[in-house]
Amino acid sequence: MKRLLDILSEELKQAFGAAGYGTDRISVTVSNRPDLCEYQCNGAMALAKEAHKAPYDIAMEVVEKLGGSKTFSKAECVKPGFINLNISDDFLARYISDEAGEEKFGYEAGSGEKVVVDYGGPNVAKPLHIGHLRAAIIGEAVKRISRFTGNDTLGDIHMGDWGLQMGLIIALMKEEGMDRMPTLEELSRIYPEASERSKQDEAFKEKAMDITNELQHGNEEYTAIWRHIMDISVSDLKENYRRLNVSFEIWKGESDADPYIAPMVSDMKEKGFAHESQGALVVDVGEEGDSKEIPPCMILKSDGAALYTTTDLATLVQREQDYQPDKVIYVVDKRQDLHFVQVFRAAKKCGIVPEETDLQFLGFGTMNGKDGKPFKTRSGGVMKLQMLIDDVYDRCYERMKENGAEMPEEELKDTAAKIALAAIKYGDLSNEARKDYVFDIDKFTSFEGNTGPYILYTIVRIKSILRKYQENNSEAAFDDMKSYKILPPGNDAEKNLMMTLAGFAPMIEGAWRELAPHRICAYIYQTANDFNKFYHETRIISEEDKDRQQSWIALLILTKGILETCIDLLGFEAPEMM
Ligand code: ARG
Repeated sequence: MKRLLDILSEELKQAFGAAGYGTDRISVTVSNRPDLCEYQCNGAMALAKEAHKAPYDIAMEVVEKLGGSKTFSKAECVKPGFINLNISDDFLARYISDEAGEEKFGYEAGSGEKVVVDYGGPNVAKPLHIGHLRAAIIGEAVKRISRFTGNDTLGDIHMGDWGLQMGLIIALMKEEGMDRMPTLEELSRIYPEASERSKQDEAFKEKAMDITNELQHGNEEYTAIWRHIMDISVSDLKENYRRLNVSFEIWKGESDADPYIAPMVSDMKEKGFAHESQGALVVDVGEEGDSKEIPPCMILKSDGAALYTTTDLATLVQREQDYQPDKVIYVVDKRQDLHFVQVFRAAKKCGIVPEETDLQFLGFGTMNGKDGKPFKTRSGGVMKLQMLIDDVYDRCYERMKENGAEMPEEELKDTAAKIALAAIKYGDLSNEARKDYVFDIDKFTSFEGNTGPYILYTIVRIKSILRKYQENNSEAAFDDMKSYKILPPGNDAEKNLMMTLAGFAPMIEGAWRELAPHRICAYIYQTANDFNKFYHETRIISEEDKDRQQSWIALLILTKGILETCIDLLGFEAPEMM
């Protein structure tokens, strides 16, 4: 389906051409003066110089050519030479009818690429904390957008499962004489204790480091404990992510990169990409024109140990071997920016991935408390993810009780959980990922304003109108949009809603191109506002003109479909009632 703006631009090009002008630079944009017109074309201004004519005169000639247009209801020139345009109601209604009948509402997916999204990145055996919230939420949205836009997409959790935390746990178990496998509860006690201890007790820390090293070199006893810790932690992680409506196709971790490290390192040495520097093995990744110095990428420490960069590079070796991705997107804290510059450059330089592979880093900002500092618990500690979700859930549950929601307890709980998830995710995703934001539980859980619950409320409202309509018209079927005819809009509110709905496909294109879920949020907020304004001006259920009523019902179904598709891309869903 052609984009609305392309159709309009095409029409203007023809008019410029018919008036004898070049058409290369002619395009139509959304008006920046919505009080004057809906769209505008500034082409006459650009042509004035070479045509040796006043832009106003050119615009006049073009407007004359637009005379019989069925697309525009208004085309007028204003000084010094702008063309102001409104589209005709008939044209818009036809466009919207087509959109309603199209799969994906007219969005046409391109030829799909193979995409891997690396997100989540939890560290096994440590509790998930709020630092991991953004990685999960943004990554999941990016993955869903990638899939919607036609890409063959895999999400890889890339767990931190190979580091010192394992050595610390095993060291404390040994010291306590624990000769059986720990439970999850024990684990959540052992890790913090061991971590605290290592800060005060140098010998203990060294012991933990030795154990980590032995584990990484295949010590059988430690490997067995490690495998057990992995098993119980992974099921716990799965449960945590399930609550967030986040899931991964690939459950690999840093440990899975291990077998690829040795061959990768010898290849780097053999081809002369890696060299020794102060006992360590490094790859130079500085490039001419760098505005600040990019230090060499460390591959092996002087004791031969691998580092974070090493596992990330070896993981790319594995991904290349298993999937040959066209694009790999890393959704990680923006403070790891330099790490990824080094990894990407080293991967290209050493031929680990082909030159044309698109390696992208989507670095996100920090989630702050109302004091503007990184979010903490009331007592000042690191907030566990579980606690945060519970808090938001409780707030939503209370709000529903206050609002006098009448439904069975089970449904109330389920609904509160859905609203809570929308509050958390929308609160996060409506900000540009790269920026820090303030987690404000009162604001996020409000049913009014630019919030997740407001979007859900709008969808629920539409569902309830559709239910009423169906009660009165038992034969009404909502699945075959082709049997509905959308009539030209009856007032400005309806027209605004239609124009916003017509913007779905280009919005999706932008959200994918810029890896920007916040664009989807801005779009659905606009759609919800337009819809609610329309709703307040329209008596749908009591309308006597059946064609008119059916047309509105079709518009509602389209609005609902677009809103639901969008929130699904953001990773949450709407309840039936709230
Ligand atoms: N586990 C890491 C951390 O907590 C994040 C991993 C991100 N992904 C990656 N491929 N490096 O900081």
